[in-house]
Amino acid sequence: MKQHWKIDPRLDFLNHGSFGAVPTVVLQAQQAFRDELESDPIRYLAPERELEPKLDYVRDVLSELIVADAADLAFVLNATAGVNAVLRSFPLRDGDEIVVTNHGYNACNNAAHYAAERAGAIVRTAEIPFPVGGPGQVVDAIEQQLSDRTRMVMVDHVTSSTGLVFPVQAITDLAHARNIRVLVDGAHAPGMVPLNLAELGVDYYTANHHKWLCAPKVSGFLWVHPQWQSEVRPTIISHAANRPRPNRSRFLAEFDWQGTFDPTPLVALPHAIEFLQSFYAGGIDEWMAINHNRALDSLALLSAGLGIDVSTPAEMIGSLVTVPLPLHAGSEAGNANDSLQQRLREHYRIECPVFAGIEPESQLLRISLQAYNDLEQVKRLVVALRQELDVT
Ligand SMILES: Cc1ncc(COP(=O)(O)O)c(C=O)c1O
Repeated sequence: MKQHWKIDPRLDFLNHGSFGAVPTVVLQAQQAFRDELESDPIRYLAPERELEPKLDYVRDVLSELIVADAADLAFVLNATAGVNAVLRSFPLRDGDEIVVTNHGYNACNNAAHYAAERAGAIVRTAEIPFPVGGPGQVVDAIEQQLSDRTRMVMVDHVTSSTGLVFPVQAITDLAHARNIRVLVDGAHAPGMVPLNLAELGVDYYTANHHKWLCAPKVSGFLWVHPQWQSEVRPTIISHAANRPRPNRSRFLAEFDWQGTFDPTPLVALPHAIEFLQSFYAGGIDEWMAINHNRALDSLALLSAGLGIDVSTPAEMIGSLVTVPLPLHAGSEAGNANDSLQQRLREHYRIECPVFAGIEPESQLLRISLQAYNDLEQVKRLVVALRQELDVT
């Protein structure tokens, strides 16, 4: 599999999760689109000439993959933009409450705080332990923060630093039973876990294409339930705000054009999806299952090699694996520049992130298992960690 990516073969690259990595064939397709664009920029980029039809085709391909109505699907640069558009459009009032979790992505939790502060609303944080016992613990922690003032729950589908697949269906059912809207930050989800937005029935769902769908950087989507589409505006207001379009919703028109941009990452998305779909006989489902199994094997290797018990239920694992480590493990005491992440990179040529822990005095080491990774890389990581952490 490695031959299909440009990843430096001398590197054990175990961090697909942060920014993804694009297969060469998809980069070539994108370059062809760039060449086409540059050969006649106005024709390609003027929204009502070629751009909107091109984006509509991408919308159709994507909507099939995530089981959604294409009319409900807007494009954004990334999940951070999707979350910001929803939160900054949301009609929050003084005293309202938004519930987020302590596993939430910092940038997106910041966006919730920003929107809340402007409206005089408050953000409550559901505290979920790590390691977590099971999905019920996540739902319970969120339920504890709900009140009759809660207007929205924002939750990750796959958490960033802890790499957990959250029970978004159960969380949605819980919130909807109380008339609370749900915003799912699915940044990592497409290409990692099966998605069916029609069934899920959330209010808003945003995700990245450039992570596990292996599309070129940068692009993502924002799905909005038809009921809220007239309310949700992009953070960047542009031409479509005062230019009525008889045959197009303002929702699509506003998100499709937020100023001059490079649409080729989006136009190349069907090529990335095609790459994932056609590789194995079982299509993208088989691709995801292989990554998932590799993640479970990796968790077993890390747990056994480091002598730690991370009994995360398999249903809460996609293709990210996180293990908690003591705070200063692998770092020279008192040297803030000497992080475990840096030492892995500099001494072992292993690239994987080490994040601040959820629990006090802990840090989190996360590995990503994409098709170009293998268990030999994880074994090398275990050897390096045993050395750095003085595991005997
Ligand atoms: C859960 C989650 N949300 C949002 C993001 C932000 O992604 P982006 O920087 O592409 O907006 C990430 C990135 O890792 C993430 O893990």
